[in-house]
Amino acid sequence: MALKKLVAGNWKMHGLSNDLAEIEAIAAASSEYPEVDVALCVPAILIERAARAVPGFPIGGQDVHHAEKGAHTGCISARMLLDAGAVLTIVGHSERRDAQRESDAEVRAKAEAALGCGLSVILCVGEMLEVREQGAAVPTVLAQLDGSLPDRSTSDAELAIAYEPVWAIGTGKVPTPSEIAEMHGAIRKRLTDRYPGEGERIRILYGGSVKPSNAAEIFAVPNVDGALVGGASLSAGDFMPIVAAAAGAG
Ligand code: 13P
Repeated sequence: MALKKLVAGNWKMHGLSNDLAEIEAIAAASSEYPEVDVALCVPAILIERAARAVPGFPIGGQDVHHAEKGAHTGCISARMLLDAGAVLTIVGHSERRDAQRESDAEVRAKAEAALGCGLSVILCVGEMLEVREQGAAVPTVLAQLDGSLPDRSTSDAELAIAYEPVWAIGTGKVPTPSEIAEMHGAIRKRLTDRYPGEGERIRILYGGSVKPSNAAEIFAVPNVDGALVGGASLSAGDFMPIVAAAAGAG
């Protein structure tokens, strides 16, 4: 079953007031591709301004705290994201799993907190280079999924998975189509086992050095239902050809 593709930009720690114009450009150009869902996950401090600048275009956060509220200096709750105008959030990005030492259990709690508030979630998994070289990429990613997948019984908000091999992020290196197919197929199987009836409809995005030059090839891989795009999402000039490739892939 072909799912509607989702192309989400992850702006990471990029974006100032001046860049709202780029968000407006991306939102305006995306309206020409109704066959693709497009979203931008921007720094938390830009969410409210971005959401006001592009009404109806999905703006998201890049992380969320698992607690509803409390003494968590510097952290942002799901309700705060929602209150600022976000409709989705990333959780479990490898840059946070690594630098903030986020565990699978913490990622799962974050996903459940966000979904419970009605935010859609893009949950990231992916292996390090050594793991792939040892031939252990698939079992490693499946174990990450087992630890981080949320309970789906309490919310209808959408869950998507992003497979982002750590060694492909920001490096220009990309797995081969057959490596992506193998991993996405294994993730699909895990999702259908874990969420009977829903697992077939959960979108599995690929992330890691997606560019205009390789997007069409990646979108043609079975079980690739979209992309999570870092660097190339910062400008409409780079991002929109990726959205167009997703539209072309049907
Ligand atoms: P790049 O597209 O810059 O490699 O980043 C991928 C990523 O980490 C998206 O979350």
